[in-house]
Amino acid sequence: MKKLISKSVAEQKNIPNILLNWYKDNGRTLPWRSKNEADLVFRNNYPYLIWVSEIMLQQTTVKAVIPYFNLFIDTWPTVFDLANAKEEDVYSMWAGLGYYSRARNLIKCARIISQDYKGHFPNSIGELLKLPGIGPYTSAAIVAIAFDKKATVVDANVERVMARIFSLRKPIIEVKKQIYSLSDKLTPTERSGDYAQAVMDLGATICRPINPLCYRCPLNKVCLSRIKNIVHLVPKKSRRKEKPIRYGTIYVATQGRYVVLVRRPSIGLLPNMLCPPTFGWLDDKALLGPPFAASWKISSNKIYHAFTHFKLVLSVYKAEISKIPSGSEAHLFDQNLIDSLPGLAKKVLTSSIKF
Ligand code: ADE
Repeated sequence: MKKLISKSVAEQKNIPNILLNWYKDNGRTLPWRSKNEADLVFRNNYPYLIWVSEIMLQQTTVKAVIPYFNLFIDTWPTVFDLANAKEEDVYSMWAGLGYYSRARNLIKCARIISQDYKGHFPNSIGELLKLPGIGPYTSAAIVAIAFDKKATVVDANVERVMARIFSLRKPIIEVKKQIYSLSDKLTPTERSGDYAQAVMDLGATICRPINPLCYRCPLNKVCLSRIKNIVHLVPKKSRRKEKPIRYGTIYVATQGRYVVLVRRPSIGLLPNMLCPPTFGWLDDKALLGPPFAASWKISSNKIYHAFTHFKLVLSVYKAEISKIPSGSEAHLFDQNLIDSLPGLAKKVLTSSIKF
């Protein structure tokens, strides 16, 4: 085993070159990547594009992000456009991507960049970390990809690839430091952005969590897990902690094709998003039952929804009302509205309202 590891350490110097060569022909074509170095307009705006894409990609797959990214950049092509955007428009567009605090921080950060930095993103990890919504991963990704400076970028794909190359047979959570240090040693000082994206693309397309395509992998001759034939055992799965379950109630009041929605507070879950009135699941004391009197009828279907830290089970009450109560907002229930709602509201409304 010692022999295998030291052999691989000797060979690992070549890993960055193998990956960079592989990336040239096999990297994914993504809207925030330009193969055209001469495209100056694109390059001048590159940090903005990379920042938006990296924030979107934090909790969402590349496939799901692409249409949102394209629409977002068409609507707010520069950081100045985003700084001047109406917050509600950004939240509506973000609906569906989830984890809405990202959208709130995106607007805050755009305003700081346009006012305090004259529209130029800083190119050091230390400065980037001071900005809202930018943590260690995102700052490293921006420095490496947008500015082509050396930074070690480690996301879940990179962790899996490293664990497999070096045959680390422990749950990722237990070997994070070791993985960072191995990644840091491998990251080249030049083209470290391409290198980072090469590892991420390899992880997403070849070194997949299940059914990895080792026969197509450019590293299959140096990957210790492959050599030992234990790829399927690496990384070791850690036991997931069960999420707690919360219970609540949601009220769907319709008047013809209109539905009553409230805009949620700017702090907390689903900030600033439109949602039918709810009760109970956030220990919210403001509403102690139905939001207004109506002939509420409980629906036989419950709604199940997973948030990051808990699962939610909602009982649904429905009512057809003849007049919109004062203080409530009614919205036409059409595809535009559905597209602008957060996942939870979408799930509740599409399963409870049938025209
Ligand atoms: N995941 C997050 N950022 C990425 C990027 N720039 N390329 C590929 N996958 C990614």
